[in-house]
Amino acid sequence: MKRKFPNLCKPIQIGNVVFKNRMFSAPMGGTDIPEDCTIGPKSTAFYELRAKGGAAAVTVSECVVHPKTEHSHAFRLDPKVLGSMASFAYTADAIRRHGAIPSVELSHAGQFSGTYLIDKEEKRQIEQWGPSAGVRHDGVPVRELTEELIREIVEAYGATAALAKRAGFEMVMVHGGHGWLINQFLSPYYNKRTDKYGGSLENRVRFAQEVLDSVRAAVGPGFPIEFRMSGAEFFEGGYGLEEGIEIAKLLESRVDLLHVSAGSYLTGFDITHPSMFREHGCNVYLAAEIKKHVSIPVATVGGINDPYMMEEIIASGKADVVEMARALLADPELPRKVMSNREDTIVKCLRCYTCLAERVATSTRRCTVNPLIGRELESRDIVPVTVPKKVLVVGGGPGGLQAAVTAAKRGHRVILCVASDELGGILKGERAIPFKYEMYELGVTLGRQARQLGVEIRLNTRVTKEYAEQENPDAVIIAVGSEPIVPPIPGIGGANVIQVTDYHHQKDKVKDSVVVLGGGLAGCEIAVHLAREGKTVHLVEMRGELAPDANVRQRPILLREIDKCGVKVHLGHKAVRVTEEGVVCAHEGKETLIPGETVICAAGQRPRRREAEELLDTAPFVAQIGDCVKATTITNAIYQGHHAALDI
Ligand SMILES: Cc1cc2nc3c(=O)[nH]c(=O)nc-3n(C[C@H](O)[C@H](O)[C@H](O)COP(=O)(O)O)c2cc1C
Repeated sequence: MKRKFPNLCKPIQIGNVVFKNRMFSAPMGGTDIPEDCTIGPKSTAFYELRAKGGAAAVTVSECVVHPKTEHSHAFRLDPKVLGSMASFAYTADAIRRHGAIPSVELSHAGQFSGTYLIDKEEKRQIEQWGPSAGVRHDGVPVRELTEELIREIVEAYGATAALAKRAGFEMVMVHGGHGWLINQFLSPYYNKRTDKYGGSLENRVRFAQEVLDSVRAAVGPGFPIEFRMSGAEFFEGGYGLEEGIEIAKLLESRVDLLHVSAGSYLTGFDITHPSMFREHGCNVYLAAEIKKHVSIPVATVGGINDPYMMEEIIASGKADVVEMARALLADPELPRKVMSNREDTIVKCLRCYTCLAERVATSTRRCTVNPLIGRELESRDIVPVTVPKKVLVVGGGPGGLQAAVTAAKRGHRVILCVASDELGGILKGERAIPFKYEMYELGVTLGRQARQLGVEIRLNTRVTKEYAEQENPDAVIIAVGSEPIVPPIPGIGGANVIQVTDYHHQKDKVKDSVVVLGGGLAGCEIAVHLAREGKTVHLVEMRGELAPDANVRQRPILLREIDKCGVKVHLGHKAVRVTEEGVVCAHEGKETLIPGETVICAAGQRPRRREAEELLDTAPFVAQIGDCVKATTITNAIYQGHHAALDI
């Protein structure tokens, strides 16, 4: 078989171990961690899914090495805790049985201990330790680690590595990036010590070197040690790439794979977990530059989800390994699809931050485009049915498409009808916004999957009660979506007004100065896009805040982007009428004109209840999903579509 991505699919030897391809699963933690900090069956199933999907290595996230100074409620490998060793052994085994190399991340968060605890009070009370005493950016005091404690922590890294090896792990990752303890020692921002661990770079690197020596002594020669570092910290007072290169050079003799990430927890998630506002692969240049100066394999990570880009990274020698986190949540089968030339069916990560936000909000794992994530155990497997049914899916948005795909996978005969001439529903509009292009692609990919699974797609077909009854289906899934809310104000029907959902086919009409009416997520995003195009953009919002519907991780980055692009924000402004000059708003008892030649209306969506209710009695099994029930997220639409199809 001729592989389309020959470099990406090529095995690589690291230490004494051969990895079957160049696609590794980067560590991903959850917070649904049992009281005793064992891995537990749920997380094991989570990691196993990526091994099944063909990743060459799967790294289990942060295993706390020294709970005495690191109070995070994360995985711990403690032989004194009943079941602890067994939980690690089961997980290593679950990963290994699919041909992937199991690895575990050895971690100490230093002065960011307990970061992911939900209870804010508990978080505040945690004792924090770092290379130097001080006060954290949020006012929490930090204690300086004594040399004796440093020695203990160094030994703990080795002891944990030995236990991981005993449990069946065949690689370890030492976490030295993202602002965690080893990074704190490396960083001139945190490390103000005057002893042998501080000052010169040689001294700041010493702690990392001692940790790596301790791990090496524990695991022996040939056992691969991966070191995760930030190529640059990207904040005032932190280290830059030049120092990153020197750090790499000072560590390479102790490391088998240098994993170059970027950024720091201190400055938020935009760099460590590149947001949708950044280029894909925006950190690759850091790995490529470091690779020029070391002679060990180098891995890159961050916002990479396209196999063509990955192939180019490996082929051009920018890195030897590509690591992915979110791309493998979105589609755990990505490596298998790459290996078998089925790249056109990869469901791409949207970089919507739902995975990160859900962790904060509910301590669970979730992915917008993959309904299985976090529910690997309890999700009923998509097993073929014994008696296939005739299923009519009404609507071709994300929920309807997912329902059709899941139903077809189960062996049902599926007909999907959509009123328009194209699949995708509300996602169709996203093609015009470059940083949301993957949302548009999601509709295209699900449509392709549906066709490949034999779903009969009927475009330009509005399903009435009569139409549905004539089809005589066993099951109807109603996914007719929502329609834009048009505020009842004079002038809203004018030639200068465009609905945000119509922007993609009316974008040539948009003039150089624009008023966006509505500061929810959709309004904020179109405002950023138009401002990036060089237009003058005013964003009008009746409420006192922007994008309350954005998730907690996405929102601060979106607000920063709005600020960066120069969007002029008008909060507490209620639109009264639209004129050719812009939008007249009521604000603090007065009328003000917010000027703009074009007005984009982003006032939200309303469920298509009438269309949905018309179909309620058209089959023995009827389910309603997504926006037609309540205007909602893509996450909910896909999740509900998948489960409605399982319920048939
Ligand atoms: C849900 C989630 C959990 C993560 N947990 C960890 C973790 O425990 N340790 C770690 O070093 N990185 C963690 N990361 C960061 C990833 O390993 C990776 O560096 C980052 O997401 C950028 O890669 P990506 O763009 O492919 O997602 C996590 C990322 C996600 C999305």
